[in-house]
Amino acid sequence: MYEYDVIVVGAGGAGLRAAIAAQEAGAEVAIVTKLHPVRSHTGAAEGGINAALREGDDWTDHAYDTMKGSDYLGDAPAVEALCKESPEEVIQLEHWGMAFSRDEDGRVSQRPFGGLSFPRTTYAGAETGHHLLHTLYEQVVKRGIEVFDEWHVLDVAVTDDDEPEERSCHGVVAYELATGDVEAFTARDGVILATGGLGQVYDHTTNAVANTGDGVAMAYRAGVPIEDMEMIQFHPTTLPSTGVLISEGVRGEGGILYNANSERLMFEHGYANNDGELASRDVVSRAELTEINEGRGIEDEYVHLDMRHLGEERILDRLENILHLAEDFEGVDGLEEPMPVKPGQHYAMGGIETNEFGETCVEGLYAIGECACASVHGANRLGGNALPELTVFGKRAGRHAAGEEMGEPKITTGKTGDYEKGTVDSPVELGEPGSGAVADGGSAAETADEVVERTLERQRDRIERLLEKDDGVQHASIRADVQKSMTRNVNVFREAGALKEALRDIREARERYSDVYVEDPSRTYNTDLIHTIETRNLLDVAETITVGALARDEFRGAHWRKEAQERRDDVWLKHTMLSWNDGSPELWYKPVVLEGEEKTYEPKVRSY
Ligand code: FUM
Repeated sequence: MYEYDVIVVGAGGAGLRAAIAAQEAGAEVAIVTKLHPVRSHTGAAEGGINAALREGDDWTDHAYDTMKGSDYLGDAPAVEALCKESPEEVIQLEHWGMAFSRDEDGRVSQRPFGGLSFPRTTYAGAETGHHLLHTLYEQVVKRGIEVFDEWHVLDVAVTDDDEPEERSCHGVVAYELATGDVEAFTARDGVILATGGLGQVYDHTTNAVANTGDGVAMAYRAGVPIEDMEMIQFHPTTLPSTGVLISEGVRGEGGILYNANSERLMFEHGYANNDGELASRDVVSRAELTEINEGRGIEDEYVHLDMRHLGEERILDRLENILHLAEDFEGVDGLEEPMPVKPGQHYAMGGIETNEFGETCVEGLYAIGECACASVHGANRLGGNALPELTVFGKRAGRHAAGEEMGEPKITTGKTGDYEKGTVDSPVELGEPGSGAVADGGSAAETADEVVERTLERQRDRIERLLEKDDGVQHASIRADVQKSMTRNVNVFREAGALKEALRDIREARERYSDVYVEDPSRTYNTDLIHTIETRNLLDVAETITVGALARDEFRGAHWRKEAQERRDDVWLKHTMLSWNDGSPELWYKPVVLEGEEKTYEPKVRSY
């Protein structure tokens, strides 16, 4: 049994930043992560970090752009914290040695990004996340923070009080890939989930194979509400054959989108007459798919992104990485040819419900970064707002978990404030069909040590059961079927019939999963076992996305519904919440917080 003040789960940008902040605040910290830190998916972030750093810009403009980008589903206290604190985080990174791109006069460079009223995206070529991750990891190493890498967290140790708001978290249980050992990590003060994205719910995604929504699924099964899961971002420029990201930085530098008729589609077909290629991502993705669906796509599948006119010198200076990606993954020379691109799953705006300090409604359990929903991004995230979210909320949660006094939160968590019950017209029974392969929920116990001990026992049993079962269904076919169904039915354009089909497919997948088995019996680097566990997480996450999408019959941000072509503020200015109750999801809603420090963000028509 290991014991620390603060346990951080995940070692991407958010986890590393939280660990540094918690240690600076005096806590004894450990990071437990299924990957080595520098293999975390933050390293794949390309475009940049939004920060109002320059004369002529102001954090309040950044906040306005972010609220508009969110289609008024962002919570103002979280949005304002992001925009106000992002500049100091960028300066901190620079002081820690991050290799930002520079202008001739030596200042850190900034470029335009979609949905921004000022060119405030700070960057390091087209590999900003890679530099950020390495800079933070250096600080973790320098500080001697303990890292348990290749330890896959299986569960959070949470009490089983009746109401989630009465529960508390006392640690985690993790599986060591190298040895097959299952061990407990007790957290005296807090557990911070920083487990990243969930893109593997889809079969065309910019996300890494490791992005399986583990933190969201674990928190959800421990009773923590999950927020706005239907809000999935589809990035407009991914390579068609692999989903590899071609950064928005290409359009930020002046790259142009063309359809099969060589028309500049964003203007020619009136999708965004002011901002064109630099409209918000949801707008550009819908535009591309409309072109393709109306027969103006190339090979009925993609459009072209052309950067040749930028010239070799500028491309090599600011976008060199893009040349390598296009060449290596699509065999296209971006200096000589336009690049084929199409929308692909990129980001989850929703996630584990938190307040602006990263706290969930379960005492001692925090969530930050992509797995969390504070909510900073609402119905659509602006490009360049993910990296500042990692650092700003990483720092906040780290300090809070370490015991720093940070004032009263303005965002409520759990069913404490105004809430409204919801219903969904599902064609199948939702939730867990009752599998022996799964261990859910909290642990009944008198003391913190007992909670951790019982969680450990339950997870050891679960691993033994998975390894002892010698026939049944393998996870891979279940995972592939769900990914295909989600890509087909819960994509950019959504309609009730397809969403119901996805729910039927998920139900069938859940039933098949009750008979899952792991073919590889070994205890050393058993990736079959790990992927089987991850697949369970994907099923829970896929269901929450689809339930939220079916229930929300309006068009807001990234969530387009065929049956409801308008944003309906009279009914839907509220967050979709799902709580896991005895193995099935309960739907409810809570209001959006539009009141900021000095102003209220009144919803306006959103055009670009
Ligand atoms: O397009 C990009 O470079 C991605 C940036 C982001 O998602 O923030």
